[in-house]
Amino acid sequence: MAASAAFGAAALLALVANVRAVPVVSEPTTTFTSETTNLPSPYAIEHYNVTSHGPYDGPPATTTGALSTKVLAPSIAPAPPPPQIVEYPADGELHGDQPMPFTPSGGIGTNGSEPIYKVASDFDYQSLALALYHEWIELDLFHWGLATFSEEEFDAYGINAEDRFLIQHMADQEIGHASVLANMLGPNAPKQCTYNYPVSNVREWVDFNQKLTRWAEAGVYGFLPHLNSGPAAQMLLQSITIEARQQMSFRQMGGQFPMPEWHTPGIPQSWAWTLLAPYVSSCPYNQTRLVWQNFPALHILNQPNPARINGSNVWNETTGGYANTLSTKDIPEDELCVNATDKTLDCPAAIANNKSIPLSYPGRQVFLKWDAPGQLVGPNNSYVTTTNCAEPKFALWLSQLNVTYTPLLNISYEERTAYTIQPNVSTWKNDPAVNGTMFMALTDVDLFVTPYNVSMVNPHVAALAVYQAG
Ligand SMILES: *[C@@H]1O[C@H](CO)[C@@H](O)[C@H](O)[C@H]1NC(C)=O
Ligand SMILES: *[C@@H]1O[C@H](CO)[C@@H](O)[C@H](O)[C@H]1NC(C)=O
Ligand SMILES: *[C@@H]1O[C@H](CO)[C@@H](O)[C@H](O)[C@H]1NC(C)=O
Ligand SMILES: *[C@@H]1O[C@H](CO)[C@@H](O)[C@H](O)[C@H]1NC(C)=O
Ligand SMILES: *[C@@H]1O[C@H](CO)[C@@H](O)[C@H](O)[C@H]1NC(C)=O
Ligand SMILES: *[C@@H]1O[C@H](CO)[C@@H](O)[C@H](O)[C@H]1NC(C)=O
Ligand SMILES: *[C@@H]1O[C@H](CO)[C@@H](O)[C@H](O)[C@H]1NC(C)=O
Ligand SMILES: *[C@@H]1O[C@H](CO)[C@@H](O)[C@H](O)[C@H]1NC(C)=O
Ligand SMILES: *[C@@H]1O[C@H](CO)[C@@H](O)[C@H](O)[C@H]1NC(C)=O
Ligand SMILES: *[C@@H]1O[C@H](CO)[C@@H](O)[C@H](O)[C@H]1NC(C)=O
Ligand SMILES: *[C@@H]1O[C@H](CO)[C@@H](O)[C@H](O)[C@H]1NC(C)=O
Ligand SMILES: *[C@@H]1O[C@H](CO)[C@@H](O)[C@H](O)[C@H]1NC(C)=O
Repeated sequence: MAASAAFGAAALLALVANVRAVPVVSEPTTTFTSETTNLPSPYAIEHYNVTSHGPYDGPPATTTGALSTKVLAPSIAPAPPPPQIVEYPADGELHGDQPMPFTPSGGIGTNGSEPIYKVASDFDYQSLALALYHEWIELDLFHWGLATFSEEEFDAYGINAEDRFLIQHMADQEIGHASVLANMLGPNAPKQCTYNYPVSNVREWVDFNQKLTRWAEAGVYGFLPHLNSGPAAQMLLQSITIEARQQMSFRQMGGQFPMPEWHTPGIPQSWAWTLLAPYVSSCPYNQTRLVWQNFPALHILNQPNPARINGSNVWNETTGGYANTLSTKDIPEDELCVNATDKTLDCPAAIANNKSIPLSYPGRQVFLKWDAPGQLVGPNNSYVTTTNCAEPKFALWLSQLNVTYTPLLNISYEERTAYTIQPNVSTWKNDPAVNGTMFMALTDVDLFVTPYNVSMVNPHVAALAVYQAG
């Protein structure tokens, strides 16, 4: 394999390819130790334990705003579908000669060309750089929680020593994910930063983790099939499947049903960056900047709270906009579900909990308040929230496969408040589409988009939030 030595992911694969079976020379045995089976561990990216946490309090940044170059148009015009997909007769027959036995014609990257594990366009670079920011924060966030909260605090939520080892393991997995991405980005890959977490106890931390891993996961699903570099997509796919498992584990540790949804949504990169940036405090000098937009925060005033027995019976129980992560402050003990005596109402850490009172439901009024644009957010407060949409008229619900719009009611553009009503929509067979840890945006038009082109709605987005439906 003649891959460039600068891209360690290719080197890693070359190493794996050199593993050979060891010949049996004596009594049959299943354990071998020899020079041919002892392979060195590949070099992992340089990383350290972040020691500083909290909001940014350094000097104003000298460079602000997203990275940009010549912008050709305010939005991308819709175009007809690609003819080769429309014209392919999906009839189960073979329509081309086979390149080799047992192999159909077609596919991308299947003609024998050597895979190069690197980004191949600005789109690839910016997308993987965004994903790397997520791997870095998770590496710190999971370690930070373990170091910050006591064993007793974890035990009180049913998260025992073995569960804590799982969290430690999940933190360490991020070293591998960060290494893979940084190798494919090259020397200017974004570095580790310092962070600011909106949590003050184990329950809040677990909820922030399950929300952050969801938008990190959904953020990758949104761009993965659009990458120019198939080899880069392959490597990222094999990391993001682990991220998906982490998301599920944190839901389980919070006593939530592990995966209520039938499909995981994908979101645009600017949504993932909008949700992440407020929790990044400062990044090193010369940090590579990102092209993505930061939208204003949407505050869900009655965001469902999974720490409660009746999670929909809430007012202002988040620790802020964007993540809209749960707060346990001021919840009386007998309203917390963790130790509820009725088994249909409790929510200790578990493989699954039936929540007999739904967190959210069709017909629920959801009360909203959104921020004005022009706020400084993100690393060194060096990004600025922007929107083209001064007067939103719809709530966009993005969960599972489809986008659904509901009208905003009782809108006050002065106060930036409104409410909307949760729609009654399903994916298949009455499976509620609005479910799980999902997303809500406010928009000025109900633009028709489907999972592969959700980002076309960005020029119409006024504000953005995580919504906790189920
Ligand atoms: C970070 O801290 C953990 C203990 O919490 C330790 O095991 C690990 O080696 C440290 N990592 C680095 C890079 O210093
Ligand atoms: C294989 O496909 C790639 C990308 O489409 C192309 O650049 C390359 O020239 C092709 N190689 C061969 C041997 O046809
Ligand atoms: C739940 O009950 C256990 C056992 O009584 C107790 O140790 C723990 O502190 C309780 N957890 C909370 C969050 O109150
Ligand atoms: C979410 O899905 C689960 C599992 O199918 C279901 O029990 C629950 O009622 C759904 N939640 C909502 C809010 O529809
Ligand atoms: C961000 O702030 C830190 C701390 O003040 C500083 O060391 C660093 O150089 C700044 N980063 C950038 C990209 O300006
Ligand atoms: C800053 O980054 C640029 C490339 O983005 C590089 O050319 C330059 O050498 C870097 N400066 C320092 C001081 O690291
Ligand atoms: C849960 O709270 C909602 C909203 O306040 C309320 O409509 C519903 O009746 C409550 N459910 C139960 C079982 O108490
Ligand atoms: C919730 O917060 C909003 C916005 O800060 C405020 O207007 C409202 O009065 C609060 N509601 C309650 C019940 O505290
Ligand atoms: C769990 O919830 C499902 C769906 O509502 C219900 O059919 C089942 O009986 C419940 N099981 C238990 C043990 O509560
Ligand atoms: C909507 O606005 C009207 C008039 O201001 C008010 O009477 C009503 O209570 C509001 N509805 C809600 C759900 O806030
Ligand atoms: C949602 O729609 C389904 C199918 O139309 C209907 O059976 C169900 O009663 C509706 N649920 C609510 C809460 O309106
Ligand atoms: C998603 O929405 C499109 C357009 O309304 C519709 O054709 C499709 O059936 C929907 N898919 C699902 C799984 O609900």
